[in-house]
Amino acid sequence: MKVLVTGGAGFIGANLVRLLLERGHAVTVLDNLSAGRRAYLEGLPLTFVEGDILDVELVGQVVAGHDGVVHLAAQTGVPGSLANPRRDCEVNVIGTLNVLEACRQAGVSRFVFASSNAPLGRQSPPATEDKAPLPISPYGASKLAGEGYCLAYHGSWGLGTVVLRFANVYGPYSAHKSSVVAKFFKDVLAGRGITIDGDGGQTRDFIYVGDLCRAILLALESEVSGEVFQIATGVETSIRSLAEMVQEVVGQDVGVQYGPPRQGDIRKNYSAIRKVRRVLGWHPMVSLEAGLRDTWTWFSAQRW
Ligand SMILES: NC(=O)c1ccc[n+]([C@@H]2O[C@H](COP(=O)([O-])OP(=O)(O)OC[C@H]3O[C@@H](n4cnc5c(N)ncnc54)[C@H](O)[C@@H]3O)[C@@H](O)[C@H]2O)c1
Repeated sequence: MKVLVTGGAGFIGANLVRLLLERGHAVTVLDNLSAGRRAYLEGLPLTFVEGDILDVELVGQVVAGHDGVVHLAAQTGVPGSLANPRRDCEVNVIGTLNVLEACRQAGVSRFVFASSNAPLGRQSPPATEDKAPLPISPYGASKLAGEGYCLAYHGSWGLGTVVLRFANVYGPYSAHKSSVVAKFFKDVLAGRGITIDGDGGQTRDFIYVGDLCRAILLALESEVSGEVFQIATGVETSIRSLAEMVQEVVGQDVGVQYGPPRQGDIRKNYSAIRKVRRVLGWHPMVSLEAGLRDTWTWFSAQRW
């Protein structure tokens, strides 16, 4: 399959393109390098196009000739959406519409959309596909709009869209990220202790990027369309126990400080993964400990 990965120079993209190439797919990456790094793709046999998903003409040209698109390019977090909700809307809503519309016009058959649990907002956990979305951040609202357009392009024109709601993803190629696992490893490498926001009792569902990319690949290669799936482990881990595991993995007691809680931080967040198990036959295979070891191997080999 000829596969276009938007945002392919980012964290998840850098891992995904390697898996796609291993599977024998031909890969094109479209990325404006606003967050991702060209160096993550160095030496890989793929076509790289530096450009923006808001450039309608360019998107049309790049999408043409592909069989499938994995749409990762986005404004990727709640803080960025609070700082600039208009930009968040432009990139995540209009940008997604641009890519979908180009797919419709070019007759692309498969489209996988990177969503998150943010559309579910104030719903209590576990996150499931059948709970009504109640976003509490502009990021949640823009991802929900993206989900809506994906389902609408399936409903109106039969485009083979699948929406995947990723939990907290961690793994190699995340040096530019401010997610908690990347932050803890960067804290260790910088020689400062780990800082936990709040009391550390807040919980998250951490999924290894290799497991996540297998789910994206399965969705891309399947014939399932017009569906939403939670992609997670179903396991709840507190930030305090994550900090303990990180110290075990790096083999030193680096010291833990507790800072003020982050404003608006959700106390509990994890997902139920019954639907993806049943429909796509996917389940996570990498334990948190093994995934953290892999991630640490990558981080500790980087030049800072
Ligand atoms: N990492 C997670 O834990 C997580 C969780 C839920 C959802 N997601 C979603 O997964 C996707 C990938 O996330 P990631 O963690 O790899 O983030 P990332 O920032 O590493 O990757 C996003 C990539 O998109 C590119 N990009 C941003 N705006 C663009 C634009 N206008 N035009 C072209 N390229 C653009 C960036 O340069 C970057 O390389 C995003 O859609 C994100 O919202 C990620």
